[in-house]
Amino acid sequence: MFDHPHYTDPKLAADLLGLVPMAADDTYLDPCCGLNKVFFDHSICHEKYWCEIELGRDFYDWRTPVDWIVTNPEYTKLWKLHCHAMWLAKKGIGWLLSREAISVFGPGRLSEAEQRGWTISKCHVVETRWPRCFYFLLFERGNPKFSFSWSCERYD
Ligand SMILES: C[S@@+](CC[C@H](N)C(=O)[O-])C[C@H]1O[C@@H](n2cnc3c(N)ncnc32)[C@H](O)[C@@H]1O
Repeated sequence: MFDHPHYTDPKLAADLLGLVPMAADDTYLDPCCGLNKVFFDHSICHEKYWCEIELGRDFYDWRTPVDWIVTNPEYTKLWKLHCHAMWLAKKGIGWLLSREAISVFGPGRLSEAEQRGWTISKCHVVETRWPRCFYFLLFERGNPKFSFSWSCERYD
């Protein structure tokens, strides 16, 4: 059941969450957790929540603000998903994205995100079995310092 082509390697999820400055007493939501709940399980936050449409919990119905929203999301309506996340998250939003998905964040949308108080603080490049290159984008509120990094580890 967990060997799904769109599910994230648990080691990758753990490593990406390690790049997020979240604290154990912060609150966390995985908005698209999958049946594997891989980001949810690896989040260090004691107070954590999940949504998964296949389990009857639609992210667009979620109304409780949380500090962090981080996952490998569904890509088909990524901007709509991001807008809902910008409305809910208090500290940061992190997405693992394919190169096609990352193109959703063009100049117009980055400006709109910035007007709403959100700036990209990290871009981390990773390699997986297929389709090879993925990008972890972290948005944080305010004027965070930006860092660009990558890992040569070959994830599943
Ligand atoms: C690419 S999969 C990733 C699953 C998991 N986050 C991971 O990293 O392995 C995206 C998941 O989002 C779920 N999903 C799609 N639309 C959703 C929605 N509106 N609310 C909650 N989950 C949704 C899909 O059913 C799918 O399980």
